[in-house]
Amino acid sequence: MTTEKISVSPQAEKDRVVIFDTTLRDGEQSPGATMTHEEKLEIAGLLDDMGVDIIEAGFPIASEGDFRAVKEIAKHSRNAVICGLARADLKDIDRCWEAVRHAKRSRIHTFIGTSPLHRAIPNLSQDEMAERIHETVSYARNLCDDVQWSPMDATRTEWDYLARVVEIAIKAGATTINIPDTVGYTAPVESAELIARLIAEVPGAGDVVFATHCHNDLGMATANALAAVAGGARQIECTINGLGERAGNTALEEVVMALKVRGDIMPYYTGVDSTKIMHISRRVATVSGFPVQYNKAIVGKNAFAHESGIHQDGMLKNAETFEIMRPEDVGLSATNIVMGKHSGRAALRAKLKDQGYDLGANQLNDLFVRFKELADRKKEVYDDDLIALVAAGEDEARDRLVIRSLRVVCGTGGPAEAELVMSIDGVEASAVETGDGPVDATFKAVRALHPNDARLSLYQVSAVTEGTDAQATVSVRLEEDGYIATGQSADTDTVVASARAYVNALNRLLVRRGKTGDDTREISYKDVS
Ligand code: KIV
Ligand code: ZN
Repeated sequence: MTTEKISVSPQAEKDRVVIFDTTLRDGEQSPGATMTHEEKLEIAGLLDDMGVDIIEAGFPIASEGDFRAVKEIAKHSRNAVICGLARADLKDIDRCWEAVRHAKRSRIHTFIGTSPLHRAIPNLSQDEMAERIHETVSYARNLCDDVQWSPMDATRTEWDYLARVVEIAIKAGATTINIPDTVGYTAPVESAELIARLIAEVPGAGDVVFATHCHNDLGMATANALAAVAGGARQIECTINGLGERAGNTALEEVVMALKVRGDIMPYYTGVDSTKIMHISRRVATVSGFPVQYNKAIVGKNAFAHESGIHQDGMLKNAETFEIMRPEDVGLSATNIVMGKHSGRAALRAKLKDQGYDLGANQLNDLFVRFKELADRKKEVYDDDLIALVAAGEDEARDRLVIRSLRVVCGTGGPAEAELVMSIDGVEASAVETGDGPVDATFKAVRALHPNDARLSLYQVSAVTEGTDAQATVSVRLEEDGYIATGQSADTDTVVASARAYVNALNRLLVRRGKTGDDTREISYKDVS
């Protein structure tokens, strides 16, 4: 055996790109993506585990729920810096510090809209705003050593004014200057130039880290973020699955993998363990109720699927023919070993572990029962089936509404009829309703047993795997009195999955309503006063 001497060129600290994840703040802020307290803690834990450097955990002054979540995330943090958002207001900054100070390492992120359109909202002159920036950044810096400042809508702010306020923020003690493309307006060339010019021309710029925060309105968020890095930015702000307002933010998985795969032309690196990407992507999709589009880069269901004959042939001969990264690099198992009704508990546990799920004994027992039920109905149970099963069953233990049985009669001859038995706070009740199709009849039966005015704002069905015995995953989003809740379920029977998803969303709505004001934002980050 010969040993090859490999010369490794050490990666320079100057080429290290800090990953700042804002799934729990900018992502969660997008209408309908609200997560429960427990879900936020779980996602923060996964982000910390995968090596994200900074977690923006929320906007503490926005609501009691946001404050509590940021504080808990801070208390449980391990390696990541925990950051909270605050407007340019002393009360906001105090509240933010109160929440993040419990972390091993904390950051205050304060911002104000600096473009002409944003300056008009609080009706401040350029000088008045400059004064406010100096006051609030200095105030934050007196509380915390790590302060990030953002001129919101930077890419539409006049150059002279932008350069002036960036200098003021640096002088006031900001340690990171973030340049947001709030409305997704910029393009890669501009993005690189803007950062490079700020670094070259603003006094003191060499002493701080420049960050890029891009929105995807024109589909350029990832390209703009990478261009900003080429221009000198060393912090990318991003979210899992690109979750975020409107068209979303830069997707974490895209920038991490782009830097990894194209290190030849982008010689920068991150501290993120890319093999954890798939698991967190699925968890964020489940808890936010925002499914990942099939052809989404890196994490889409089809991202590593090779269907056409010519592709499959090439892949069998040499995977590199059509693959620029390996499925394992993002945490997809290379082999999809099929489970069936003879598979045991140990195999199930191992399989789930492989997918990033470490279930406790009770959860595993419960899942094993549901896995056996599924395996009785479906010959082959794939990885995606198991993941759908985990996602579908996680709330049942604490649910107030539980479906006991459902029978539906439908066909071509008339309206569909649903007969539903549901337990409500432990008491069983039944209803029979007719409707325009089986799902309509079923939802009416649920409403007959649990009257509510929740508006159905999303009903989405997708097949988990192929074949007529495939499970269907159903996502439902409900809105009532300003509360939004999403529910998901999977079953080989689409109507059963629909009923469970609907009831799942109702249960979440009940939890939200139970905690008055908990998840309702009283303030949006755009209300800059
Ligand atoms: O898009 C944006 O401008 C923001 C700021 C609060 C940084 O999210
Ligand atoms: Zn944003």
